[in-house]
Amino acid sequence: MVVVQMNQDHKIIGRVLADDVISDLGHFLLRRGMVLSPWHLQILKIHKIEYVVLQDMEAPPLNIQIKNVFKNNEEVSNLYYENVMEIKSLFQQAISREIPSLQTFMKPFTPLLETVIKGSNILLELHHIRGYDEYTYRHSINVGLLAATIGKILKYPNEITMILGKVGFLHDIGKMKVSHQILNKKGPLTDQEYGEIKKHTIYGKEILESIEGTEQALKIGALYHHERLDGSGYPHNLRGKEIPFLAQIIAVADTYDAVSSDRVYRNKYAPLEALNELVKDVYNGRLNGEIVLPFVNHIMNGYMGNKVVLSDGRRGQIVHLHIDEIYRPLVMLDDGQCIDLRKHRTIAIVNVFS
Ligand SMILES: [Fe+2]
Repeated sequence: MVVVQMNQDHKIIGRVLADDVISDLGHFLLRRGMVLSPWHLQILKIHKIEYVVLQDMEAPPLNIQIKNVFKNNEEVSNLYYENVMEIKSLFQQAISREIPSLQTFMKPFTPLLETVIKGSNILLELHHIRGYDEYTYRHSINVGLLAATIGKILKYPNEITMILGKVGFLHDIGKMKVSHQILNKKGPLTDQEYGEIKKHTIYGKEILESIEGTEQALKIGALYHHERLDGSGYPHNLRGKEIPFLAQIIAVADTYDAVSSDRVYRNKYAPLEALNELVKDVYNGRLNGEIVLPFVNHIMNGYMGNKVVLSDGRRGQIVHLHIDEIYRPLVMLDDGQCIDLRKHRTIAIVNVFS
């Protein structure tokens, strides 16, 4: 068990209560075993609760998790773990010694990318991986696979989809030149540290420029994947159509994987909350709806019929998707009762299993 102060929201959301919560006035607020959602957090704050006792969340070693996550697909399971390790050494080599050739970079990743292009739906399972071991390398693989998936959803020919996969895979290579201490800092970043992180876009373009035969698309992806349609991104505060469409696709893949993963400074969002974050970014003018909405539909259709755990601890199955609010589906509970999450907005889906 671990005691967490209430001012650390992102260390609390998605975690399981190890003890009942009772207010100073003796009101019973939340019971042990519940998975905490943002709504629960509000209740606790209203009642001025200062800390909560949570179950331990020690993540098992990465190789064991990958085996469990892809248990129905041994080929992908082996490829994925080998990829993380090979890519780690190649990325590190890119700054410490001679930069590997583009073919060397792509060799371990291409077979995995091909399984996605052939139609493997492994992305639906990625959100089960917990902890932040080897995050940078997993993130590169995931963004590559997600970008290729978006290419497929948008019905691009296979050659373009392959390029999108490559661009996603190498989009953050510039992070290799940013200090490890800054990238893995647990507390808030100073302005100077954030400025250094922002430079990974320019470093990425420079590294890719120094590799012979690199397609223009790769440099564009590395340089512009943090630009946002409303001009709030970096490094050049580009707006709308000034941002190449390819970089807009990488932005969606990057955002989705980042919010679906545990980070040193916060826990990951539940799978549907992560989709919701993307949709919010469309409505606040940051991400492109022409990319996000088909992607959200695709992921949710993959979850149709899957088993879910709700934030109040109940379990059920997704039985119907609403077109207008696809991430708030109808769930049939294990006791046969149906619950429409559009009408019960304080209840969230905290986990999805195939
Ligand atoms: Fe980035």
